[in-house]
Amino acid sequence: MKKTLFVLLLFFSVGFSFLHIASLQPTHFPAPQYALPTLSDSSKIALGRLLFYDAALSRDSSISCSSCHSPYNAFAHTDHDLSHGIDDQIGLRNAPALFNLAWQSVFMWDGAIHHIEVQAAAPISHPKEMGSSIAEMVSRLSTSPFYRNEFYAAFGDSLISGEKSLLALSAFQLSLVSSQSKYDKVLQGLDAYTPMEAKGFELFQQHCRSCHLDPLFSTYAFASNQLPVDTSLMDMGRMAITEAKKDSLLFKIPSLRNLSYSYPYMHDGRFVKLRQVLDHYSGRSLQSPEGQKRILPSFTSNEKTEIIAFLLCLDDLEFVQNKAHQFPKKLLPGRREATRMSSKN
Ligand code: HEC
Ligand code: HEC
Repeated sequence: MKKTLFVLLLFFSVGFSFLHIASLQPTHFPAPQYALPTLSDSSKIALGRLLFYDAALSRDSSISCSSCHSPYNAFAHTDHDLSHGIDDQIGLRNAPALFNLAWQSVFMWDGAIHHIEVQAAAPISHPKEMGSSIAEMVSRLSTSPFYRNEFYAAFGDSLISGEKSLLALSAFQLSLVSSQSKYDKVLQGLDAYTPMEAKGFELFQQHCRSCHLDPLFSTYAFASNQLPVDTSLMDMGRMAITEAKKDSLLFKIPSLRNLSYSYPYMHDGRFVKLRQVLDHYSGRSLQSPEGQKRILPSFTSNEKTEIIAFLLCLDDLEFVQNKAHQFPKKLLPGRREATRMSSKN
């Protein structure tokens, strides 16, 4: 009897985690740039999740990835316009939301990073973010029986390395797929727009879609929406990477999913409200990724309201409330201690 129950429980828990992972590729999304994690990666995802939430990755154990990328904000940061790191240092840019990363080929606002697997090395070693280094992280994790167990579960080997840590972090981040908004449901015939949202969608398709292409709501190319330059930051965007004049003030087009949770907006977090964003776009001349100028009409107050009504259909509450993405209970001090004790036996 006990044995049947155990087999049944095992069947269900494997079944459920399989369901969670098997559904990572939404049927209405294009093929990803990075292979999405599969069932065999679930223990790597679990390890990546621990690392993502663990402040032990920073020099003085004060900052974790989640300090700047909070699950409740679609993994963006809403307390500050510019990111806030170790020793209360202010960074140059607004921490972007993290989801649907598997569909991007370059990362950061200026595309400085080409591989998701190496991305995490940047904040870990950035003096204004986590102020540590991969070597320091590895030596710290290696003293922890808790992490040796977790690395063993993920890689079949308890040896802790920088490479494995980065792989696990990227597996967790690639598992962050947002595809359950009202827009997605309407697309699948499961919901319907209000007349105002429908009008907003129409305006969106005419004026915004070329850069914020559905269903990801970005082409992830570099463009300029002609934000006036903030002279205190002098952030030249993409040009800092390519050194080509044509890339001056180009920034990576962000996705428009989950805007209700991920404010403030833009690379420097200058706008807090969507209304301010629409005021900015109204009558604005933009530069497309192909270098063409494009002038948007002056939107009426009603049109702005309609576009915003549509943008709110891109909020994915299931995504921000997904417990599988949140702080792992295993990291609670008592729990982690318990794992430590048991691993000594
Ligand atoms: C101090 C705040 C801070 C911390 C801590 C931090 N980040 Fe970030 N993150 C940022 C900022 C700011 C950017 C944008 C940087 C840029 O564009 O130059 C960013 C960008 C990213 C991106 C690129 C997203 C995109 O769409 O291009 C990823 C992925 C990411 N961070 C993951 C992580 C991981 C993993 C960690 C922990 C190892 C981490 N971050 C820690 C602030 C932070
Ligand atoms: C020519 C390409 C282009 C077009 C067209 C365009 N955008 Fe953008 N959008 C961008 C770029 C580039 C950024 C990032 C700019 C920055 O941070 O410097 C951006 C940023 C945004 C943001 C901020 C998102 C965030 O997470 O910070 C919102 C909201 C937005 N756009 C909405 C719209 C709407 C609504 C329209 C149509 C009225 C539109 N965009 C048309 C290129 C475009």
